[in-house]
Amino acid sequence: MKNQSSTHKKSLGIKYTNSRDLFETGKLSYEWAVGMMKIITKITDKYRKTKPLANFKLGFCLHITKETSVLLMAAKALGAHISICSANPLSVQTDVIEFLRYNEIDVFAKKNPSRLEFFANMIKVAESNPHIITDDGAELHSIVHKQKIKGILGGTEQTTSGIFRILSLKSKTGLNYPIIGVNNAKSKHFFDNRYGTGQSTIYGLLKTLGILIAGKKFVVCGYGWVGKGVSSCLRGLGARVTITEVDPIKALEAHMNGFDVQRLKDTLPNGDCFITCTGQRDVITQHDFDILKNGAFLANAGHFDLEIDVGYLYAQNKQPVQLRPYVESFDIKGKKINLIAKGRVINLVGGEGNPSEVMDLSFSNQLLSILYITKNYKNLGKDLHQVPNKIDEKVAKVALSSFGIKIDKLTREQIDYHTKADVTY
Ligand SMILES: NC(=O)c1ccc[n+]([C@@H]2O[C@H](COP(=O)([O-])OP(=O)(O)OC[C@H]3O[C@@H](n4cnc5c(N)ncnc54)[C@H](O)[C@@H]3O)[C@@H](O)[C@H]2O)c1
Repeated sequence: MKNQSSTHKKSLGIKYTNSRDLFETGKLSYEWAVGMMKIITKITDKYRKTKPLANFKLGFCLHITKETSVLLMAAKALGAHISICSANPLSVQTDVIEFLRYNEIDVFAKKNPSRLEFFANMIKVAESNPHIITDDGAELHSIVHKQKIKGILGGTEQTTSGIFRILSLKSKTGLNYPIIGVNNAKSKHFFDNRYGTGQSTIYGLLKTLGILIAGKKFVVCGYGWVGKGVSSCLRGLGARVTITEVDPIKALEAHMNGFDVQRLKDTLPNGDCFITCTGQRDVITQHDFDILKNGAFLANAGHFDLEIDVGYLYAQNKQPVQLRPYVESFDIKGKKINLIAKGRVINLVGGEGNPSEVMDLSFSNQLLSILYITKNYKNLGKDLHQVPNKIDEKVAKVALSSFGIKIDKLTREQIDYHTKADVTY
């Protein structure tokens, strides 16, 4: 087992308890994940010798999962110096922390910190002189902007809610460095947000509740990428799924995909379980709790814990009844309302996060975007940028080949047919 110098540990304020066991499980988790993350492994192998990140310090704010350990170890193999904090107070896997620390990655995170500790950890990463910030939810991007941290060459953003925050930051104060919106790469959100979060949300539900899904009435709020994934997985397990939407096109799409589409208020008296997937705030609120069916379950798969009005629930019942780990029951006006994972991302808090194969797509986009920033930051404007098409397609191509799939190519004539207007047939 590789160990850190005690001075290094001391400088990070790290205390080890049972660290050996945690390290071993963290290592196993890493090995399990890396075995399935073939794209990022291929990228790492390509650059392992030349170490293109050798002169760069990377600051990460991500869910600390086994797949994140693969991304960080890949960046380290490419020469980067790394610090990380968690994007969510409850999504931290402590064995992964231990594994990363033994590999001399500066981890500023713990499971279930106080609000103060959570943000103090973010500030530690912000103040670790990062050249590039990789964020999930744009809280770290917001902090380094607020604190006017100097020396940042660029950044990346992992999720839909983070993209909205960056756009709002851009319109309020302007951006201090270029940011690549990794979420918007097709090879990211088509798969991570849909298939990954779809499946891992079901896993989170099963792990926390263990209930039979077949025959139950589920209400999925939002039919975007996450909502599509969650609803199709639920349907696959025999649930009766109703969609609520605010976008008429998405609502129509849900309808034509065979889902029942209703207003939220019409679903409240009958739904057994509600899952918010909107990225919006106040989707299920105090007034809705009054109409909700007795014993209904509430969960959220969106990034922030603002979709369900958990503040109201905790204000009414300071000490809700703990039914199971991450399942709390609130007595609201004589009615039982059951909240899963405190209204925080159910797939990460109640489950293990998205499957490795899907995070391989997302984190390969992240790693290639970081490499792209190191080469192009001088020419990129201080704006939100798309992942270059070349990177997006490359990730998809390597993924296909890792699954053993070959696809056809356009012939010269077919390319001309689309690109040369003067060609007649
Ligand atoms: N849990 C995870 O692992 C994970 C993974 C990816 C994304 N996310 C998060 O999930 C959320 C959704 O992401 P997405 O990529 O699906 O976004 P999206 O923009 O594709 O979809 C959101 C949908 O919600 C709808 N909506 C907005 N307000 C609504 C309301 N009040 N009622 C009903 N519908 C409403 C929108 O019209 C849209 O169709 C974001 O917060 C994102 O950051 C979580």
